[in-house]
Amino acid sequence: MKRLSLIAALAACIALPAFAANNAAKPPAKVAVCGACHGTNGIARLPMYPDLAGQYDTYIKRALHDYKDGLRKNPIMNAQAAGLSDQDINELAAWFSSRPPKVYTPSVTEPFTPKVEPDSAGKSG
Ligand code: HEC
Repeated sequence: MKRLSLIAALAACIALPAFAANNAAKPPAKVAVCGACHGTNGIARLPMYPDLAGQYDTYIKRALHDYKDGLRKNPIMNAQAAGLSDQDINELAAWFSSRPPKVYTPSVTEPFTPKVEPDSAGKSG
């Protein structure tokens, strides 16, 4: 079972960038650096790196400012964010937040509609 989900995760890593490549939006130039770990479409190359695809724009911006200002500490990301301008951060956040994620992310602006009927087992009367 564990092996199967690993294979599925790997397949998703390979398949998704090809799918997202059809999107018309143009990636910012600095995405190439981030792509070494997070994938240019925000689907991480290795499980040790977080996916950025589909994360909220405001969350990515906050994370990058916090790394840059040293409020969030991680040796890799502190170094990565140090050279980013505000414009770089805005462009990178816009890019990664617009990439399709591997998993469904609920919207904060639309009401949640469950796709599966709630289980009625155990209800009496
Ligand atoms: C050498 C690998 C590497 C590179 C290159 C890299 N990152 Fe990261 N990134 C990481 C790791 C590892 C973490 C997790 C750090 C932590 O635990 O705080 C991370 C975390 C992040 C997070 C926070 C994600 C979350 O879910 O909280 C953001 C946003 C991010 N990176 C953006 C970028 C951007 C934008 C670039 C390019 C300028 C970049 N990264 C380049 C390895 C990398």
